[in-house]
Amino acid sequence: AETRHYTFNIQYHNVTRLCGTRTILSVNRRFPGPRLVAREGDRVIVKVVNHIANNVSIHWHGIRQLTTGWSDGPSYVTQCPIQTNQTYIYNFTITGQRGTLLLHAHISWLRATIYGPIIILPRRNESYPFQKPHKEVTIMLGEWFNVDPEAIISQALQTGGGPNVSDAYTINGLPGLLYNCSFKDTYKLKVKPGKTYLLRLINAALNDELFFAIANHTLTVVEGDAIYAKPFETDKLLITPGQTTNVLLKTMPEFPNASFLMAAGPYFTGQGTFDNSTTVGILEYQHPLGHKTHSKNLTLIRPSLPPINSTSFVANFTMKFSSLASVKFPANVPKTVDKKFFFTVGLGTSPCPENTSCQGPNNSSKFSASINNVSFTLPSVAILQAYYYGQSNGVYTTDLPAQPLSPFNYTGTPPNNTNVINGTRTVVLAFNTSVEVVLQDTSILGAESHPLHLHGFNFFVVGQGFGNFDPNNDPAKFNLVDPMERNTVGVPSGGWLAIRFFADNPGVWLMHCHLDVHTSWGLKMAWIVLDGPGPNQKLQPPPSDLPQC
Ligand code: C2O
Repeated sequence: AETRHYTFNIQYHNVTRLCGTRTILSVNRRFPGPRLVAREGDRVIVKVVNHIANNVSIHWHGIRQLTTGWSDGPSYVTQCPIQTNQTYIYNFTITGQRGTLLLHAHISWLRATIYGPIIILPRRNESYPFQKPHKEVTIMLGEWFNVDPEAIISQALQTGGGPNVSDAYTINGLPGLLYNCSFKDTYKLKVKPGKTYLLRLINAALNDELFFAIANHTLTVVEGDAIYAKPFETDKLLITPGQTTNVLLKTMPEFPNASFLMAAGPYFTGQGTFDNSTTVGILEYQHPLGHKTHSKNLTLIRPSLPPINSTSFVANFTMKFSSLASVKFPANVPKTVDKKFFFTVGLGTSPCPENTSCQGPNNSSKFSASINNVSFTLPSVAILQAYYYGQSNGVYTTDLPAQPLSPFNYTGTPPNNTNVINGTRTVVLAFNTSVEVVLQDTSILGAESHPLHLHGFNFFVVGQGFGNFDPNNDPAKFNLVDPMERNTVGVPSGGWLAIRFFADNPGVWLMHCHLDVHTSWGLKMAWIVLDGPGPNQKLQPPPSDLPQC
């Protein structure tokens, strides 16, 4: 194994998109940000220097961070943010993972432009459990805002209403030719006939789950969230924010007389406003004899994406994934459960605070989002620091209920207990507890899908269904043999999903909806996992350059 060194300068960068130029926040003046490449087992050291006026921190989404919670990155959870002109060095080892992940800023909405791919190659002398690709290509889906995303969310939080949506979806930062002024800002993937390509697909969008397809081409899914999956073929994918999916693309055997569009567009349920536009890129075949071809002269064939509200496609697609579960890559699913949790996840309204204007739902309150009726508020110091030094007082409590505060029928007609209480409520787990969490979508304001992300762990997706979870009958149907292992999964709109994991990583770990607007409204919680008895089962001491609040 090697040690890989990176320097990330957080800098302003002028970028022109959609007929206008805006100054964005970036890593090393790159948009999307630079790739972080390492092999399984490598140590990664990233020096982050903040040259902008905003506070910042970087999260390595999906990296396990075994005993290195100080390098996980969520602001006010594992660290105070890096302030202007400050430096912080992230230092972690990649264990038990290979594939694609993403890195992104983890404070307010800064990840709108501060994001990039993490590519984890197999150890030297190890190969993929699938056909060796001719080439590997990273395709990052994202969103572009014509105005500063920070202004959008701060205004929304003030008024209590929903935030403005983005102005375009993007493929590798480019909106594509269906948008104004974007003919040149179209991602082009040049391929040769008769080859296999590994596409590393990442959804880095702030607020939208996205469908993806390439016209006239079938894709073979081989990996999700840096875990090998049993291969399956599909012509359309759904990727939630925070998820990554590796697929094999077999190009046509002969040079075709056409170019093919790849496209991404939103999956959207519930109420409110959304952007229904589509970003496209071009899959361009290179003539085997080197003849010049211009995509202008070729027919451009468009793929069809599922309709915007295709909840059943999404639920089916989620359950198509299963772990490879081979001798070499076993699925270590908890077969028995020490601690069970039933978490309602959804939107609600919080009582209108005094002296504020209330423009949320029903003109009486502000939008809010919660787990078991508790809307999580970030403290003003880092929870991990408070935990490590035994100073929880006034920072967090350990009383997040294992059940919702009052039971109700979760789906169908909107239930009446939509109110939430605010708090920084956590759950404490002994080392190596086997945990089951049933996540129930509450449909409080129309059905909404929630891509839940867990820091510090992968979990197994053991079950899923529509309607209310039935504790008497549903667990019998759980897949405990080869369920997919991942770090982010969509809780189905109007349904439930069950996950299991071993709490084998000491520290403080955020779990939240990866739609940033829902995170901002409080759809998050934190697990505190205590040290274990063994030498490699303890949280390491904090690094000396850990930022202070
Ligand atoms: Cu990708 Cu807590 O985030």
